[in-house]
Amino acid sequence: RIAYVNGQYVRHTDAAVHIEDRGYQFADGVYEVCEVWNGNIVDVPRHLDRLDRSLTELQIDWPMTRSAVEFVLRQVVRRNKVHDGIVYIQVTRGVAKRDHFFPADDVAPSIVITARRSSPEAANAQAEKGISVFSYPENRWPRVDIKTVALLPNVLAKQAAKEKGGKEAWYVDADGCVTEGGSTNAWIVTKAGALVTRPAENGILRGITRTVILDLIEREGLVFEERPFTLEEAYEAKEAFVTAASTIAMPVIRIDDRIIGNGHPGSVATRLREQFHTATD
Ligand code: PDD
Repeated sequence: RIAYVNGQYVRHTDAAVHIEDRGYQFADGVYEVCEVWNGNIVDVPRHLDRLDRSLTELQIDWPMTRSAVEFVLRQVVRRNKVHDGIVYIQVTRGVAKRDHFFPADDVAPSIVITARRSSPEAANAQAEKGISVFSYPENRWPRVDIKTVALLPNVLAKQAAKEKGGKEAWYVDADGCVTEGGSTNAWIVTKAGALVTRPAENGILRGITRTVILDLIEREGLVFEERPFTLEEAYEAKEAFVTAASTIAMPVIRIDDRIIGNGHPGSVATRLREQFHTATD
C-alpha cells in the first residue's frame, strides 16, 4: 500500500509524521472520509467544501491547492488499486515545539492521504441483516459541526456500543433527543411513513451522505421532517438507519433493548441504500 505524506508517496508501512505534529499532541487537525465506489471517488466537491469549512473554522491553511488535493486523492486511489473502499484526508496545523498557541506563520500544515479497500459484498450482507445501536449520553464539545480528528468521545461511545454487541452509538442530549451516531448521522421513519433527521444547524456534523439522501428524498417525493427526535420516539419508529460515507444508508434493527419495527431492515432505508449512487456527484 501507498500513502501520500507531505508531498511524497511512500510505502504505507513506512509512512510517518513527526512526534511534534500538532495532530498527535493536540488533535489539532481535521479530516474527511470519501467513499470510493466503482473506482470513482464519490462527492469530491462536497467533501472538499466541507474540508475548506473545517480548515477555516480552525484557521488552518490549505496545505496545497484544492486542485492538487483532488489530484493526489485520485493518485492514491489509483496507486492502491482501490475499486471500492474509502479515501482518507487529514490536515493538521503542522509540526512545532509543543505550545498551545498557534505556531509561527512559516509552519506549514501537514497533510496525509490514504486509501483502503473494503468489500461491497460484506457491506451489503451487513445491510441485509441490519445493525444494533446503543444510546450514550452526549458528552462532546459544542463544535461537532467541525470535522476534527479529536474523536476520543466518539471512540469511547462506539467502544461501549461494541461491548454490548452493537455497531454504533447514538448520542442522546440533555433533552432526550438523539443527536447523531459516533461516526454517522441518525434517521428514523415514523409509523406514518415520514423520514426524520435532526437539523444540521445544531449538535451534529452536516454529513455529505445526509445531504445526498435529502436530495433523493426530494426527488422521490418522500415525506420528510427535519427536526430533533427523542430516543423514545426512535424506539417506537417503523424504521431507523444511519448514514455516512463509510456505510451509506445502514438499517438499524435494534436500539438498546428495543427491537425496531419488525426487527428486519426497513424498506425505506433499503431503497435509499439501493438508490444512493444515482444521486451522488
Ligand atoms: N464519519 N457524524 C459524525 C460524527 C461522523 O463522524 C460522520 C462521518 C458523519 C457522516 O458524515 P458523512 O456522511 O459526510 O460521511 C456524521 C466518518 C465516515 C468517519 O469518521 O469515519
